Amino acid sequence: MISKFIGNTPLRRCDALSTRYHTNIFIKEEFHNPGMSAKDRPALFMIKDAIAKNKIKPGGIFVEASSGNTGLGITLIAKKLGYRAKIFISQSCSQEKINLLIKAGADIEICENSNGLHDFNSTQFKAQSFAAIHPNAYFTNQYYNNQNIRAHYQTTAPEIWEQTVGNITHFIAGVGTGGTISGVGRFLKEQRSDIKVWGIEPKGSILSHFLKHRTLPTSMIPFDAIEGIGRNFVPGSFDATYVDHIFQVNCQKTKHIAKEYYSQTGIMAGFSSAAVMASLDCYIDKMSFIPTDTVVLFFPDHGDRYISKLYNGSVYPANISSNITSF
Ligand SMILES: Cc1ncc(COP(=O)(O)O)c(C=O)c1O
Repeated sequence: MISKFIGNTPLRRCDALSTRYHTNIFIKEEFHNPGMSAKDRPALFMIKDAIAKNKIKPGGIFVEASSGNTGLGITLIAKKLGYRAKIFISQSCSQEKINLLIKAGADIEICENSNGLHDFNSTQFKAQSFAAIHPNAYFTNQYYNNQNIRAHYQTTAPEIWEQTVGNITHFIAGVGTGGTISGVGRFLKEQRSDIKVWGIEPKGSILSHFLKHRTLPTSMIPFDAIEGIGRNFVPGSFDATYVDHIFQVNCQKTKHIAKEYYSQTGIMAGFSSAAVMASLDCYIDKMSFIPTDTVVLFFPDHGDRYISKLYNGSVYPANISSNITSF
């Protein structure tokens, strides 16, 4: 049973951040999943759903458009179950993630962007086209697959609820497809509607505008490249109903915080995890935490996926593990 290896990740109190922001800060450490990211969860749900609905036959090809992590989850699970994986990744994907995908056995194709199905050069368009013309290929399509939200609603969120003994007051996560925040947000709001659910995205991304106005901005600007988060379209996996606010952070601040956190704690946070920490630094006055709050920060992956992008110039521990666990 693959599912027993995925999820049930630790939630740890972070003393450094709790002291810095005068409240109780916990980190949901998703890099303990077999593919070392939160995206193993939706990958498993999407694959199981496709198999159960006879969308693909044994030996077929699972196809996904990914900033790397979902692709890795899909590849590992597909391989374990006797399928293949074809992953379309954007050229902004870190070399470390590309190496992992190749090592896991994915057939990868690097695309110009991940701007959505309307762009012929996007990962999404190329993935959809590939699946359409290849027999026994299935596009899992995390941007529009309700199993993405469901995975977080049925697994991530109940774990957080139990781990905080129902005391969680704030959930803060980066937003890419929207699956994490929509699934966790929905579950938490169903338990207690006063729990704050906040998203983080890079400057220039459009979801905070969409959340406020329910329209797209009249002009689009390129958004800061923080891998895994930020969009210039509204994915179907983003359900605005359960999100209270989206804060924007810039890339430079994120890189600075990642290095600072590493030098203080010895822990290498992933790129989007550092963006979540950067949001606390930038918006702490607006966030108005009180000492009794229980704030959960979502860390989808680990910094060893971004050494070239985030930690250049830092001193690294000798035994960085870029390995993935097999099931
Ligand atoms: C590192 C990282 N952070 C954040 C996200 C965003 O999560 P979601 O797609 O659930 O919004 C992703 C998604 O791929 C990711 O890989």
